[in-house]
Amino acid sequence: MNKITAVKGTRDFYPQEMAVLNWIMEGWRCCSVRNGFEQYDSPIFEYLQLYTQKSGEEIAGQLFSLTDRGGRQLAIRPETTPSLARMINQRISALPRPIKWFSISRLCRAERPQRGRLREFFQWNIDIIGDDSPVSDAECIYTAVDYLRSVGLTSKDIVVKFSSRSLLAALLKDMGFTENQLDGIYSLLDKRSKLPPETFAALAKDTVPDALLREKLLACLDSFNPQGSQDPLEKLSALAQAKDTKPYVASDSDPVQLEVAKLEQLKQYLQIMGIYEYCQFDINIVRGLAYYTGPVFEIFDRGSQLRALCGGGRYDNLLAGLGGPQVPATGFGMGDVVLEILLEEKKLLRSFNNELHFFVAYAGVEFFDKALQLTCRLRAQGYSAAFDYKRLALGKQLKQAAQQNARFAVIVGQETVEADEITLKDMTKTTQKTVPLPQFLADPLAFLDK
Ligand code: HAM
Repeated sequence: MNKITAVKGTRDFYPQEMAVLNWIMEGWRCCSVRNGFEQYDSPIFEYLQLYTQKSGEEIAGQLFSLTDRGGRQLAIRPETTPSLARMINQRISALPRPIKWFSISRLCRAERPQRGRLREFFQWNIDIIGDDSPVSDAECIYTAVDYLRSVGLTSKDIVVKFSSRSLLAALLKDMGFTENQLDGIYSLLDKRSKLPPETFAALAKDTVPDALLREKLLACLDSFNPQGSQDPLEKLSALAQAKDTKPYVASDSDPVQLEVAKLEQLKQYLQIMGIYEYCQFDINIVRGLAYYTGPVFEIFDRGSQLRALCGGGRYDNLLAGLGGPQVPATGFGMGDVVLEILLEEKKLLRSFNNELHFFVAYAGVEFFDKALQLTCRLRAQGYSAAFDYKRLALGKQLKQAAQQNARFAVIVGQETVEADEITLKDMTKTTQKTVPLPQFLADPLAFLDK
């Protein structure tokens, strides 16, 4: 018979891998709580339309969709932002604002599996709904950096590349692009760093057939390349103010100035929050999802060897687009896959092992029942405790205790029956001692620490 394997692009989490994932997720949870976010979750599948309506072509092409028995078109969630918007819309008048929520969700995207991109992954989402100022954008970026810093990544390891969709829109309109062309251009530019130059050039030709306009566009992006000697945001700001910035910024440059000023405000908040050393304005950051409207960002490893480990931005029209009121929103998603690769490379990966407090061993099969009873008493007091099923010799039981990383072995034997005493063995040392059982049970850990 054929052996059935796991599906390509999915992962099995054996306890060792699960311990790593738990450590990552616990870090996300703690970071969310200390930054003032409350947890929510949404269903694993939604109506297909929720994603085809506003997320854009890229996500729509990556959906795992299904039809239920009633003929309803459904899809497994590829992201949580549309579900969040749907949930907020349902209760908008009852929720005090700003709404600061987080989720840690298992998602599926029918992507081509590659390094850093799988078909099933976990994603941490942080979102602030109901605030339109750059402070909330800055707080989201701060929260992402706060987590990455807490696991040991420094500004030498990672960079937050930020830009703004509305700034790009203003620049594009100055160049002569129409409103209708903008979505196509965002999607084109988002692919720039992911495609070989020739493939990108061909795609650019398809998207912007006018050669002059296409050159203007690419020259504009190149002129604000972060690799240059001047901070590209300062350069952009100087150009926008000088008003002699043709062909990139035409005479009526006010929308550009306005957008540059907003981005400078964001920069100021990031500086005040003490994380600007992690950040870099990069006009090439556009984001693949269709619903972003303002500041956008992605976090990369400094060496740009890996795909983005985090991405987000402002999406002020999504709630309204899904039938709710016009409420501003901003947030990000961070996946576990690239994060784990990077932490592994930097030797920062840890695991979250649930410690086994006690392994209760028996010095002879006749004490098995007593050992079982003691195990359950310890568990009832909230300690983790294990025992051997197989009635092995004491030496082998102690080996098992070591394999299971037990902190202490409790040995039940003749002295337990005769004098109500047990032997305690500290598994990290070679020492052991005999102690009265009632005293031990009164406060097991405190007793052992002495
Ligand atoms: P996204 O850029 O599609 O944004 O995904 C965010 C992050 O999720 C990525 O940077 C990556 O770490 C991870 N990720 C995405 N796809 C995969 C995959 N196939 N395999 C492994 N990891 C992946 C969003 O999902 C937005 N909804 C985020 C957001 C929240 N924007 C505002 N609020």
